[in-house]
Amino acid sequence: MARILTGIQSSGSNGEVHLGNILGAIVPGIELSKKAENEAYFFIADLHSLTTVKDAAIRAQNVRAVAAAWLAFGFDTDKNVFYRQSDVPEVCELTWYLSCFTPFPMLANAHSFKDKSNNLADVNAGLFNYPVLMACDILLYDANYVPVGKDQKQHLEMTRDIANSFNHKYGETFVVPEPMIDERVMVVPGTDGRKMSKSYDNYLNIFLPEKALRKSVMRIETDSTPLEEPKDPDSCNVFALYSLLANKEQIAEMRNNYTAGNYGYGHAKQALFELILDKYAEQRKFYDVLMSSPEEIDAKLLLGAKKASDTARPVLNKVRKKLGFRT
Ligand code: TYM
Repeated sequence: MARILTGIQSSGSNGEVHLGNILGAIVPGIELSKKAENEAYFFIADLHSLTTVKDAAIRAQNVRAVAAAWLAFGFDTDKNVFYRQSDVPEVCELTWYLSCFTPFPMLANAHSFKDKSNNLADVNAGLFNYPVLMACDILLYDANYVPVGKDQKQHLEMTRDIANSFNHKYGETFVVPEPMIDERVMVVPGTDGRKMSKSYDNYLNIFLPEKALRKSVMRIETDSTPLEEPKDPDSCNVFALYSLLANKEQIAEMRNNYTAGNYGYGHAKQALFELILDKYAEQRKFYDVLMSSPEEIDAKLLLGAKKASDTARPVLNKVRKKLGFRT
């Protein structure tokens, strides 16, 4: 049995789960979780989100939104383990231990830190230590495979380095995990063409009510080629996003429309909006139902936390023993 593990942060200011999270983590993760030979540990990284979101009510709402997204896409919480990171505080303890083995330059080189390092006053120690917490999320549960988007590749390399160096010093302790990066998806672009991200405010949240969703699709940036002129699909954000969701025929049709002319970016955006509504109709409906019964989501997460703790405790004890702490 292979153990698949991945997490999504409950960050953002308004409970957003974006299309990047869905295509980069939720859809491929659920596909893997359905295989009989796999057991999936999927969690909501609310401790990571504390590096940016200090308001408890907002974080709680975000946790629900991320949980509802996993469930709306069909994650089976009976077969697998579904939990909130902070419900298994053992991860914080392991983070301290492994922090004491993580070289400063490794963390100083992490993108998550480097992106913010031009304004050090804004960097808290949690953000700096973020990759160690992420390594512990994985190592605490003996995960074999970690499906993530390409942006997390460096964190996975650090996790492997941290595990290997501990194993080298203390003998086999941690399972060294393999990243699983779906090369078909790569990085989902945001409305401005950069990586879709909550921190860039350039994301599409497919669960928004229709009107708000349409508004966010309409703000995708395009150039100023007039409606009647032919357009280059390969340099257009709208086409890039459409291509990630549409089938071959739909993509070919839109490509033709672009190159033929008399097809405006507004038309393409409308087609993308309608495609999202159509493709995700079921998930959108289910998400709304789930969000209106938060106690049901919380109950599922609590049950998952119990299962997750049962796995975490022996791994942590093994580490404590090796380090000479009482178990
Ligand atoms: P987070 O919350 O930023 O993103 C969650 C997942 O979504 C993927 N993703 C994307 N994929 C494609 N295109 C994009 N534009 C895009 N944006 C996000 C991410 O690659 C990720 O798979 N540190 C992690 C959360 C985490 C975690 C873990 C993941 C904490 N502990 C342990 C795996 C294992 C993060 O901030 O992801």
